[in-house]
Amino acid sequence: MLEISPLPVSEAARQRALLDNDAYLRLYRQSVEEPERFWAEQAAAFLDWFAPWRSVYEGDLRQGRASWFAGGRLNVSHNCIDRHLARRGDQVALIWEGDNPAESKQITYRQLHDQVCRLANLLKSRGVGKGDRVCIYLPMIPEAAFAMLACARIGAIHSVVFAGFSPEALRDRILDADCHTLITVDGGIRGGKATPLKHNADLALNSCPNVSTMIVVRRTGGEVDWQPGRDLWYHEAVPACSADCPAEPVDAEDPLFVLYTSGSTGKPKGVLHTTGGYLLQAAITHKYVFDYHDGDIYWCSADIGWVTGHSYIVYGPLANGATSLMFEGVPNYPDASRFWQVVDKHRVNIFYTAPTALRSLMREGEAPVKKTSRASLHLLGSVGEPINPEAWEWYFRVVGESRCPIVDTWWQTETGAIMITPLPGATRLKPGSATRPFFGVQPALLDDKGREIDGPGAGVLAIKASWPSQIRSIWGDRQRLIDTYFKPYPGYYFSGDGARRDEDGYYWITGRIDDVINVSGHRIGTAEVESSLVLHDGVAEAAVVGCPHDVKGQCIYAFVTLVNGCQPSDQLKQELIAMVSREIGSFAKPEFLQWAPRLPKTRSGKIMRRILRKIACNELDNLGDTSTLSDPSVLQELIDQRLNR
Ligand code: PRX
Repeated sequence: MLEISPLPVSEAARQRALLDNDAYLRLYRQSVEEPERFWAEQAAAFLDWFAPWRSVYEGDLRQGRASWFAGGRLNVSHNCIDRHLARRGDQVALIWEGDNPAESKQITYRQLHDQVCRLANLLKSRGVGKGDRVCIYLPMIPEAAFAMLACARIGAIHSVVFAGFSPEALRDRILDADCHTLITVDGGIRGGKATPLKHNADLALNSCPNVSTMIVVRRTGGEVDWQPGRDLWYHEAVPACSADCPAEPVDAEDPLFVLYTSGSTGKPKGVLHTTGGYLLQAAITHKYVFDYHDGDIYWCSADIGWVTGHSYIVYGPLANGATSLMFEGVPNYPDASRFWQVVDKHRVNIFYTAPTALRSLMREGEAPVKKTSRASLHLLGSVGEPINPEAWEWYFRVVGESRCPIVDTWWQTETGAIMITPLPGATRLKPGSATRPFFGVQPALLDDKGREIDGPGAGVLAIKASWPSQIRSIWGDRQRLIDTYFKPYPGYYFSGDGARRDEDGYYWITGRIDDVINVSGHRIGTAEVESSLVLHDGVAEAAVVGCPHDVKGQCIYAFVTLVNGCQPSDQLKQELIAMVSREIGSFAKPEFLQWAPRLPKTRSGKIMRRILRKIACNELDNLGDTSTLSDPSVLQELIDQRLNR
């Protein structure tokens, strides 16, 4: 592979920067040579503690055990709100930009405090206490942030479920975490279209008898069914509660939230994060990666239903007393200039988005970008999937006018916060590379025997020392935590991603090496899609693989075998696709669905996905080793009928 020489750090970035390259190297060295000292200093600098910790770190990567700042007492809501009030009470904490360009709101830290305290009191009055789980099924409206912070304020554990999930997916998540309280909305609005979220929630709750409270925000004013006693209007109940609600001191290792994410097998996992280490790493990365200065307007376009929204719309920015923008809409509504109009309207300085959004806008050409000013921007970020060099170049040259550095940040729901990333004033950039590890992060590349690769090379991306925002457990299934992340390569955290390291020690993430598909930055497990397809009576078997897609990064390609006597038809195809929408959400719909009279299997009956992937992706020159196939004649059949030519 041709080595790309890095771009120099721009003069503007260097002048603004909190850290230069020497400072990065010095701090990085300290952070890995004396991690406990480094993190203790940062924890004291970044967070307010009610009581000091007993030990900075205790744990064992082989057991998946990690404890940071145990014994220390703090509260996330206090750190994100109360401690800023004296100096920043009237500063805007959240800017909310509605789907409709005529709607926006500004919420100061003082107003945020008022809202969060009242909602926390409402939760308490409904019997929610420390350690109880509260499900939040909300779109991108300020109440989503209020709800997260209200839970944190009283030590309750939130489980935010992305508003694009179906009633079935919501039900599964409510049951898995045994939530007794649900916060939702009458309807969500995106791209001018309303989605009946209260209706979805009602359907989910038909099978969740333990949910005794549903708090409903009024957003669309649409018709809703109502269950008296259980359902409460947010706009009636919250203002009636007192605004006095002291933040509950909790242990640094008390849980803060559960967030469900897909893995290669089985049902989605409830990733559990705790309080102190998580908040510290969210805050420190937000400050240094985005080079956040007081007064900057910062916008992360992710959804609150994913980890990026947790760490970089709410917790990291607010812990730093920042102004964080929350956007209800989509990049191309009312037109393809929307992102940049929002940037100009609110004079956004730092913008963080996903490659898929950039690729969808690239298709519309440069004109929609160029008709806006974007003069306020000085830093751009990317997250969620590998950014292809073409999208990187477009982001850099067209959006940022070659003036704004791009931070390509690699991390995961399980890592809680950014792990591999450039720092704008310190790191020379290479388009498509997430570059170097953040402080305290020790990546390793492992070969197929689990041995560490030194110097340049490619392998499995693993992490060889604990970091503060490390996943602590999978809700209700600690063994699965160990089996998934810590058993495959003893002594390492296994990321599920492949990566390459170049001559300069820069990391290039190549994508998932397991059966997880990344569609428009949404992580989808093949097993989940397959289980939805086989729910149909006509389906005998299904196998799902990912293949490259120009805009979405990857898309889903499904091979479906019907039961004897069931005939393939376009109508059945539509029914099956609708089935996936119903079970998971429309973002998980297969792009291609091929009828497969038979699937390629090994003699022991295992489906050979590797071969299916090649067929789906049209990589027919090299199907790899097919000698273990029980019946090789199945291949030609599948090749002849492939759809993605
Ligand atoms: O494959 C990697 C990809 O997204 C996965 C994590 O997805 P999720 O837990 O939903 O979190 C997304 C936001 C942090 C990773 O395993 N990924 C994330 N960031 C990058 C990336 N792939 C390449 N480059 C990135 N910057």
